Amino acid sequence: MTVIADPHRPLPVDVAHHAHLTGVFAPQREEVDVADLEIVGDLPDDLNGSYLRNGPNPRFDPIGSFVFPLDGDGMVHRVSIAGGQASYSNRFVRTPMVELEEQRGEAIWSGVMDGYTPPASVVGDTLAGTTRQLPDINIVEHSGKLMAMAEGDKPYLLDRAQLKTLGQEDCDGAMRVGSTAHPKIDPHTGEMVLFNYSLEAPYLTWSVVGADGSARRTPTPVPGLDKPMMIHDMALTEKYIVLFVNPLVFDLAAAMTGGSLLAWHPEEGTRIAMIPRDGGGVQWIDTDTFWVWHFANAFDNPDGTVTVDYVEHLYPMGFAQTSVPNRSTLMRALCNPSTGAITRTQISERAGIEFPRVDDRLLTRDHRRIATVGRADEDHDVLESLWFHDVHAGRDDVWTPGVALGEPIYIPGEQHDYWGSIGTDPADMKSRFYVLDVENPADGPLATIELPIRVPAGLHGAWLPAR
Ligand SMILES: [Fe+2]
Repeated sequence: MTVIADPHRPLPVDVAHHAHLTGVFAPQREEVDVADLEIVGDLPDDLNGSYLRNGPNPRFDPIGSFVFPLDGDGMVHRVSIAGGQASYSNRFVRTPMVELEEQRGEAIWSGVMDGYTPPASVVGDTLAGTTRQLPDINIVEHSGKLMAMAEGDKPYLLDRAQLKTLGQEDCDGAMRVGSTAHPKIDPHTGEMVLFNYSLEAPYLTWSVVGADGSARRTPTPVPGLDKPMMIHDMALTEKYIVLFVNPLVFDLAAAMTGGSLLAWHPEEGTRIAMIPRDGGGVQWIDTDTFWVWHFANAFDNPDGTVTVDYVEHLYPMGFAQTSVPNRSTLMRALCNPSTGAITRTQISERAGIEFPRVDDRLLTRDHRRIATVGRADEDHDVLESLWFHDVHAGRDDVWTPGVALGEPIYIPGEQHDYWGSIGTDPADMKSRFYVLDVENPADGPLATIELPIRVPAGLHGAWLPAR
């Protein structure tokens, strides 16, 4: 193919002055495999498995625009632990876009908010008119498949040994229209339950993948939604899939005329879909306007109500036109699918938190512990504290190491349980993996693993026990 320079190619992003392309967010371009990492403290010898984490990491300096966390290529980082020793590997998720850009040595696709797609004269007929695939949000293992997750698209399958990209995966058709980056795995049935929003009708579907990897339910429309809405995460109970439909609306007409693809419509309020997992009728609950990126967990109560723990924002940062400072707090919603009643209660005094996680073995059931990452004080910008919320005792503990921290992960050991997180010290740009005792996390790490290269601040991860 003769490549012709595209006169419409967007201009390079001013990387040096972009908050999410510099400092602890600066992309990592090296790929390494390093064993026998230096460990400060004692790495518990009942830990045997790997922590994997995904995040936006553009392969080349971006063109057009770069909006965190929507843009970027995926990079998967892995810290493997066994016998008190640790090793590290990282790899790009190699989509066809990354592969072609590697051949050319520069970015070809622009940011998703630009509306630019490269023509056939630049990328060939197969990739002409495509947008960059973004399997950079999460990493999920189910039915023996390790998947780098996008949002509204199919994930990429990775080989577990080398983290090599194997190609797109649709889970026996359950993800044929795409998937949320946050499917939920029911630890009691082994099922993976997911939803997908779409820009065209049906705007919202849900699916189920059996523990054996077969599609138990192919994409099934959720009735009651008449336009495309952005929904990032979901909650799962034994009986329900719970979707909070906050009023962040895709406005295709505005996008065609140079406006924003996503618009915040606070006057529309929040609608909550309670979707029975047995295929029964969907119940909708109406409530106030707020925004949710992430859920901690949800469970059914004996009286038929459903408890949902999540982080509530006043609005989605970057998409709402308002001068009111945003605020994010840990909330508990009690939803009654029979009556449509809902109460929402703040369950921690702390504000400015995100990335809530529980012990994944307790998904769909009552949980005591939630960890979040947050600012040490409300006037600080950096996520530099791990917060440990005991929702039964109503108590918060905090650990503030003075580094930029990522999502906490619950790590079950053979004898004890731990919390883990990757942090990067802005002073020396060194990244470390911290292992904390789940009983006394505020005491600081039992062990700190020195990572051989800087791990950019990113998004979501998973602990995979050794097989
Ligand atoms: Fe997320």
